Amino acid sequence: MSGIEETLRQIEQEADRQIAEAKGMDALNDIRVAFLGKKGSLTSVLKSMKDVSPQDRPQVGKWVNDARARIEQKMEENRAKLEAELMNRRLEAEKIDVTMPARKQRIGHRHPNTIALEEVERIFVGMGYEVIEGPEIEYDDYNFTKLNIPANHPAKDEQDTFYITDEILLRTQTSPVQARIMEQGRLPIRMIAPGRVFRSDEVDATHSPSFHQIEGLVIDKGITFADLKGTLEVFAKELFGENTKTKFRPHHFPFTEPSAEMDVSCFKCGGKGCRFCKGEGWIEILGCGMVHPHVLEMCGLDPKEYGGFAFGVGLERIALLKYEIDDMRLLYENDIRFLSQF
Ligand code: DAH
Repeated sequence: MSGIEETLRQIEQEADRQIAEAKGMDALNDIRVAFLGKKGSLTSVLKSMKDVSPQDRPQVGKWVNDARARIEQKMEENRAKLEAELMNRRLEAEKIDVTMPARKQRIGHRHPNTIALEEVERIFVGMGYEVIEGPEIEYDDYNFTKLNIPANHPAKDEQDTFYITDEILLRTQTSPVQARIMEQGRLPIRMIAPGRVFRSDEVDATHSPSFHQIEGLVIDKGITFADLKGTLEVFAKELFGENTKTKFRPHHFPFTEPSAEMDVSCFKCGGKGCRFCKGEGWIEILGCGMVHPHVLEMCGLDPKEYGGFAFGVGLERIALLKYEIDDMRLLYENDIRFLSQF
């Protein structure tokens, strides 16, 4: 009897010592198996009960159960302690100093061209226009011939371009989109066509071999020059301010007749003349005109039934004017110090 009590005391002592030394959950679990498991040392004491006299068995049973309860209690205490330590170590390792300066997220800006284009699109979409795109690689036929610019026409020289083959080129203007859309024959037409164009120009403050235009086209029955003027006047006022005045000067474009260039009163000086408008009081903004009957015919429309007007605006020109940028090259250099101002 007292032998068993002594054995239990030793088992418990050994369990206590191991529990106290256990460095992790795995170690603790091994201890549980070694002492309390089916083949554990405490369990084996219970198994030796058959050698204990029946009147002593309740007493021995109680000792074993008490020892078991105490060992379990110690294990539980140590488990809680180990868990707390583990948590503390993780908190320490994953510490975030909320007072540290944040890493700055650099978000890009919309390019001045994009801002200007979205503004132009907003104005025309508001008047019921569709926004359409055409190919940048174009047939000579669409870029020139169907626009009433036959081979050997001097206007072809003015827009010296990049030829890919004799028939295929990088478009010099967005006007070929006019021909493409008229050919589709879905009338009436009210569209703008923004896009990139190419000309074999040297780079300077006002020229670039690649720039952008926005083409406009309206085709319907009974369209007059008054419609053209009214529409472009609304456009100018929306873009440059309510007090903007417009002026139409006669001009020549092969695909319109009559043709004009539209000037707007200088929105800096209101028309008095300043450095911005080079003392003129007016700023040239776009080319326009009534679609030439030849063009209508070449694109499959009957000029006796249908007619309309067209216009072409340089997108960079608008961006430069609106944001008072004095060198076109700035628009293409992608200098973040420049772009982040918009
Ligand atoms: N395509 C002409 C150019 O690049 C601009 C232009 C002028 C377009 C008059 C038009 C227009 O639609 O009617 O110089």
